[in-house]
Amino acid sequence: MKKVLFFTSLFTMFGSSLAFSMSETPKSKVLEIPQETANGIAFPVNYQGWDTVAVSYREDNQTLRAIIGNPQAIKAIENGLTNPWPNGAVLGKLVWKARQDTHWKAAKVPDKFIHAEFMFKDSERWADTKGWGWARWVGLDQVPFGKDAESAHSTCISCHTPVAGQDWVFTQPAVMPKRIP
Ligand code: HEC
Repeated sequence: MKKVLFFTSLFTMFGSSLAFSMSETPKSKVLEIPQETANGIAFPVNYQGWDTVAVSYREDNQTLRAIIGNPQAIKAIENGLTNPWPNGAVLGKLVWKARQDTHWKAAKVPDKFIHAEFMFKDSERWADTKGWGWARWVGLDQVPFGKDAESAHSTCISCHTPVAGQDWVFTQPAVMPKRIP
C-alpha cells in the first residue's frame, strides 16, 4: 500500500513538472515581441503571412535568402509600380546559413537562422534616409541591430548605394505564374 502511494506521488510530481515546462517554453519563445530598433522601428509581427518576392544565394558567405513583401509591396509589383515603391510598401529579407541536404547532397537547404531585415517605405517619415526606414533583428532572439539611430540606417544605405537608381532596392521580383484573381 505504501509502495503504491509512493509511485503515485512520484508520477504526480513528474507529470506536473512536465506540464509546467510544456506551457512555459512556447510562451517565452513565440509570444515575445522583439524590441524596437534604435531608429524607432517596431518589429512587423505579421511578416510570416507575407508573399515571396524572390530568393537568393550569396556565394561569399554561403547564405540563403528569402525576400518577401507585405500586401502593398505585392500590389506594387503586380502593377509594375516599383520605382519608386509606394508609401506603405515593406520588403523583408530572411537569411539562413546554407547546408547540404541530408538526403540529397546537391541541394542546399536552410540551416542556422542569421537575421531578419526590413525596409519600410515612407517618403515623408524617412525623407533623410532615402525614403526607407531600415531595420534588422539578429538571430532567433531577434536582437535589434545598430547601437544608435545613425548607425542603424547608415550601414544599410551604404551597401545599397549601387541600386540608388532603382529606389535603393536590389531585388527584381522573380518571375512566377500569375495568381488567380
Ligand atoms: C553587405 C552589403 C549589405 C548590407 C550591409 C545591407 N544590405 Fe540589404 N541587401 C544587400 C543585397 C546585395 C541585397 C540583394 C538580395 C540579397 O542579399 O540576396 C539586399 C537586399 C535587401 C532587402 C530586400 C530588398 C532589396 O533591396 O533587394 C532588404 C529588405 C534589405 N536588404 C534590408 C537591409 C537592411 C535593413 C540593412 C541594414 C540593417 C541592409 N539591408 C544592409 C546588401 C546589403
